[in-house]
Amino acid sequence: MSMIFRGAMGPASQSLVLFIVFCFITTGTVSQNSHLNVTILSSKPTFGIVGQPKTILCQVSGTVLTTVTWYFNGTRLSISSKYSWTQRLVGGRADLTISVLLKSDSGLYNCSVRNDAVTVSESTILSVEEILHVTVHSGTETGIVGQVKTLRCNVAGMPITSVQWSVNNNTLVNNEMKYYWDTSSTPNLYFESLTIADTGMYTCSATNHAGTDFASINLSVVATPMVTIKNSRDLSVNEGGNVLISCAITDTTTIDSLQWYFNNKFLYHSDPHYFWSCINGMKVPFDGSLRIYNVTPQDTGTYRCQATNIAGASEDSIHLKIVPKANGNAVELISVKEIGLIVLGSLLAICIIVIIILACCLRRKKERKKTTTRMESSMISHDQS
Ligand SMILES: *[C@@H]1O[C@H](CO)[C@@H](O)[C@H](O)[C@H]1NC(C)=O
Ligand SMILES: *[C@@H]1O[C@H](CO)[C@@H](O)[C@H](O)[C@H]1NC(C)=O
Ligand SMILES: *[C@@H]1O[C@H](CO)[C@@H](O)[C@H](O)[C@H]1NC(C)=O
Ligand SMILES: *[C@@H]1O[C@H](CO)[C@@H](O)[C@H](O)[C@H]1NC(C)=O
Ligand SMILES: *[C@@H]1O[C@H](CO)[C@@H](O)[C@H](O)[C@H]1NC(C)=O
Repeated sequence: MSMIFRGAMGPASQSLVLFIVFCFITTGTVSQNSHLNVTILSSKPTFGIVGQPKTILCQVSGTVLTTVTWYFNGTRLSISSKYSWTQRLVGGRADLTISVLLKSDSGLYNCSVRNDAVTVSESTILSVEEILHVTVHSGTETGIVGQVKTLRCNVAGMPITSVQWSVNNNTLVNNEMKYYWDTSSTPNLYFESLTIADTGMYTCSATNHAGTDFASINLSVVATPMVTIKNSRDLSVNEGGNVLISCAITDTTTIDSLQWYFNNKFLYHSDPHYFWSCINGMKVPFDGSLRIYNVTPQDTGTYRCQATNIAGASEDSIHLKIVPKANGNAVELISVKEIGLIVLGSLLAICIIVIIILACCLRRKKERKKTTTRMESSMISHDQS
């Protein structure tokens, strides 16, 4: 075969082969010299923060002098106070630095490198984000058991990658039966029906590449107070003593007012006859018990304890009986009816006595008359004889 090949080759053919070999070697050398590789080292996509500088890292590996051009959304950039990079280099870094980012700097950045032989490029998307600012409507909120409730939260800044609510540092799951929130710049938290267990510190947080911001609300859920008078139902006290009517109230910290009534009449704190803790407007632990000093029979009646908070009011009552002193004051204790009866009885007795005396007098008078008649008749008979 080699003999056939050699035999077929003339002098012209031999020079063509030599030329091809020469060309191959020459081209190989050129491509080796102008070998270019451009790599954007920044993460893709890359993120920046409004108002801050940003550098997009671009690595060039080349062996001859290379010209670097940067493009933004297809438009060629020029070096200025805003943009800077090394325009001519033999391999190395052609990083683009943007001095102060604006929201409008978001877009496609293209690092293009060229030498005498080739042009290569690579691009990345830059997203410029604002620092988020989370605010809540109010730092403390109160809710009532069984009612709906909204905790208001507002997020300023764009874009918002995620929003999250948590209670006492435990993250909540959105769109549960119990509560849900809008995934927007107003991620208000909605409760379908509050329970006492919902009391806690709620934190609204929003995140993007610029960071996370949050704000908290302390929610307290209040139920109608439970009022219970602890004394035995038939409370009886001796006149002159002191009485303690013990009134127990659940969750005293939520109570706005506590009021005592006697036979449905408002009792006044200023009345020194009574004493109970005055807590109007003051959310402090207190004792709801009523003390009555030096009781008299006039204190007999119904006592009612009423506690109020934002959820409502509840009350309990008790009947108090004062046992009068048995001695000196007995007369006071006799009723008008009894006095009437005594007077009537006395009058009756006097009448009877008078009647008896009269009857006696009458009888004696009759007897004397009889004796006189007898004497007269005997005298007459004596005269006759
Ligand atoms: C280009 O450069 C990068 C970074 O140095 C390297 O990982 C990659 O392998 C190079 N590619 C080629 C084709 O040389
Ligand atoms: C650049 O392109 C992006 C889309 O890739 C676009 O959202 C943005 O508005 C463009 N910016 C300018 C200044 O043209
Ligand atoms: C970079 O820009 C140049 C010039 O507009 C274009 O030819 C090239 O395709 C772009 N490269 C990339 C990766 O977008
Ligand atoms: C909410 O409660 C926490 C812990 O009890 C407390 O540190 C924080 O100051 C409270 N915040 C407000 C706004 O009252
Ligand atoms: C909640 O977490 C933050 C940060 O992790 C911590 O500083 C704070 O003390 C925690 N609060 C509670 C109530 O656990």
